[in-house]
Amino acid sequence: MSIEQLAETAQAMVAAGKGIIAIDESTATIAKRFAGVGIENTEENRRAYREMLLTTPKLGEHISGAILYDETLRQSTRDGVPFAKLMAANGIIPGIKVDKGTHPLAGCQGEVVTEGLDGLRDRLKEYYALGARFAKWRAVINIGDDIPSGTCIEANAHALARYAALCQEAGIVPMVEPEVLMDGDHDIETCYEVTEATLRALFGALYEQNVMLEGTILKASMVVAGKHCDEQASIEEVAEATVMCLKSTVPAILPGVVFLSGGQRDEDATAHLDAMNRLGNLPWPLSFSYGRAMQSAALELWSKDLVGNFDKAQAIVHARARDNGMAALGKWEG
Ligand code: 13P
Repeated sequence: MSIEQLAETAQAMVAAGKGIIAIDESTATIAKRFAGVGIENTEENRRAYREMLLTTPKLGEHISGAILYDETLRQSTRDGVPFAKLMAANGIIPGIKVDKGTHPLAGCQGEVVTEGLDGLRDRLKEYYALGARFAKWRAVINIGDDIPSGTCIEANAHALARYAALCQEAGIVPMVEPEVLMDGDHDIETCYEVTEATLRALFGALYEQNVMLEGTILKASMVVAGKHCDEQASIEEVAEATVMCLKSTVPAILPGVVFLSGGQRDEDATAHLDAMNRLGNLPWPLSFSYGRAMQSAALELWSKDLVGNFDKAQAIVHARARDNGMAALGKWEG
């Protein structure tokens, strides 16, 4: 696969005013989301829910791609159209989560490392054949007493870089996601320092593993105070801190950066993205790859009547996509 093709896909993922919808919850994670609204976690309910999301009329106006879970990439609409085929027909690039989740990092109390490299080359080949053109790997960095350790940051950066190199070999754009969690009572300065160290280690590791940045997308967490910190930063403070942190760590040749929502309120996730884009003078497009902040309102409504609220839930998905798409242009009107 040529770097030109990877770069073309990466650029399309962050096309002006468009972003990604992350619907790649593992079976265990979607179980939690469904439990929150009283939906039984069956394969058919998962399929029907993803069908509701992916068949949203005009979704492609503001959505460039969707990240799926392994099961979803193999599923179809009620009428038998494979989701990946339906997406491609609507101009939405199919993506796939390929990591196998986090596991305790031996020797590092309270820290985790993401697994999934074994057999990844073969899985990527299969995912490409099924239509996936980008992939996601999520590393998790916890902030707490004396953590994160350098060991944890390095181990996760190394795994992200190994995964990214394998993706590019397979013709798949890697979306590298080192998520610094919002859990805890740390202040925004601590989040800044940890995010900076994490991104420096990540781009060092990508360089070491010969990953071509022109064909790579960063999925970043925003620089925010911990959920339980008494002093929460304003929308503008978060936007400025996040942009400064990215500018000092992320090479300008990267085609784009997308953000996760990480448990932020829907409106905050949109407002933060909008404020960052209003700052202007950015080396890369900044857009979204939200999971919860794209889905939660729609899931809540859909759960009340899976058939009767199908269209209304889709209208909410479209509205969230439009709001976040406007925020990616710095033109959200609140
Ligand atoms: P949230 O936006 O809900 O954090 O999910 C994004 C994601 O894909 C996390 O890996």
